[in-house]
Amino acid sequence: MKFAVLLLSYLLGSIPVGYIVCKLGKGINIMEHGSGNIGFTNVLRVAGPLYGAVVLLGDTGKGMLAAYLGLKYGIQWGILGGIAAMLGHSFSIFLKLRGGKLVATGLGVLIILAPKVALTALVVWLITLAFTRYVSLSSILAGISVPIAMLAYQEPLPMVVFGAFAAGFVVIRHKSNIRKLMAGQEYKIGQKVDPK
Ligand code: G3P
Repeated sequence: MKFAVLLLSYLLGSIPVGYIVCKLGKGINIMEHGSGNIGFTNVLRVAGPLYGAVVLLGDTGKGMLAAYLGLKYGIQWGILGGIAAMLGHSFSIFLKLRGGKLVATGLGVLIILAPKVALTALVVWLITLAFTRYVSLSSILAGISVPIAMLAYQEPLPMVVFGAFAAGFVVIRHKSNIRKLMAGQEYKIGQKVDPK
């Protein structure tokens, strides 16, 4: 049963919400537009705020659900369920193992496992965004804040390790953004990309 929850979490995480809503609502493959990412930021930029909001809710919700289901069997299964959903989101079985940068799904997992850490990361994200207008930089710094906040709030060791894993994962998934930031070519929030 516990392992079934992990499989279910991976499948939940694999649901490519951004890809589905853009295909159904706009008839476009979001992976061929803007940054090519299936996440909230790129859907917002290419398809607009309504679509972006649906993706944010869907991607956060699937992370929350996976962690919640795992948590019924103990904290370690909550963590493993969360990791399974994050892996599913980034390496989706429905997208030939391609996928998103896991920020919203990771946030959903954190909301269930460590709400104070989730709130702290969200504050870091919002402050960075307010000052820089770069979502990617905000996501990277919010990710890095997670293990630090885990330590500051004296979360148990498995949670700290999970936080370090999540931070590393977020940074690695933002490799192309880091290159664009360094080249001064990164999109800023609000910058629209025409899907046509
Ligand atoms: O959550 C993803 C965000 O940090 C960057 O998205 O589309 O600008 O690569 P994007």
